[in-house]
Amino acid sequence: MTEWSLQALERCQTLDELASVVRMCRRCELRAGAHGVVFGEGSPAARVVFCGEGPGAEEDRLLRPFVGAAGRLLDQMLAAMGFERFRDVYILNVVKCRPPQNRIPTEEEREQCRPNLLAQLRIINPVIIVLLGATAVQTLIDPAARITRVRGQWFERDGRWLMPTYHPAALLRNPAWKREAWEDLKRVLDKYRELVDPGHDTPYYPLARRSEGAMAGVRQVPPKP
Ligand code: URA
Repeated sequence: MTEWSLQALERCQTLDELASVVRMCRRCELRAGAHGVVFGEGSPAARVVFCGEGPGAEEDRLLRPFVGAAGRLLDQMLAAMGFERFRDVYILNVVKCRPPQNRIPTEEEREQCRPNLLAQLRIINPVIIVLLGATAVQTLIDPAARITRVRGQWFERDGRWLMPTYHPAALLRNPAWKREAWEDLKRVLDKYRELVDPGHDTPYYPLARRSEGAMAGVRQVPPKP
C-alpha cells in the first residue's frame, strides 16, 4: 500500500500515482470525518486549473469536485468560456476532504493539505489558475487578501498566472455578482488566447473574425504613409 509522505508526493510523475498517495493522507482530522478524498478531475493536459475551497456534501458522496449546485454553475461558466471539464480544464480544491458542516477549512487544515495541492500543480503544470473564492486566494496568493479587493487582477506566481474571482456558491447567493465574475473570466480568456491558444473561440466572447464572411478575401487598405 502507498504511504503518504512528502517524499512519496515528490516521486509522483502522474496524477494517477499522486491520487493514490493523496488518498492515504491522514495529516489532519478532515479525512476521519469525510467519506473519502476528493482528489480533483479534468484533463491532465489542461493549461487552466480551477481551484475551489473544499468538497461539500455531494462532492464527498461522489468523490468528485464541484458536482453540487455550485458545480452546475461552474459547468455553465466553463461552457460560456468554450471549455469542457474533462477536455480543457482541471478542477481541484485547496483541501481534499470535506470539512464538517461545510465550514471553511482552518489555516492548519489548509497548511497540512498544501503539499497535496502543490504536487497536483507541479504535475499538471498549468499556465493559468482561476482561484474560486477567498480560501483559494488566501492559500495561493496572500493569507490577508480579500476577494472583493483582488478579484479581476492578475497575480504571477512561480511562472503561472493566477486570477481570483468569486466562488460559484457566492454567485448563487449573490446573482448580481455574476456580471463582475464574467468580466474576470473574459480576462482569463484573453490570457488563454495570448499564451495558450490564439484560436480559442466561444460565441459568448467571440474572436474578431476579420477573415470571414463579407470580408473574406478583401484586402485591408494599407495605412497612409
Ligand atoms: N465548493 C468547493 O469549493 N469545492 C467543491 O468541490 C464544491 C463546492
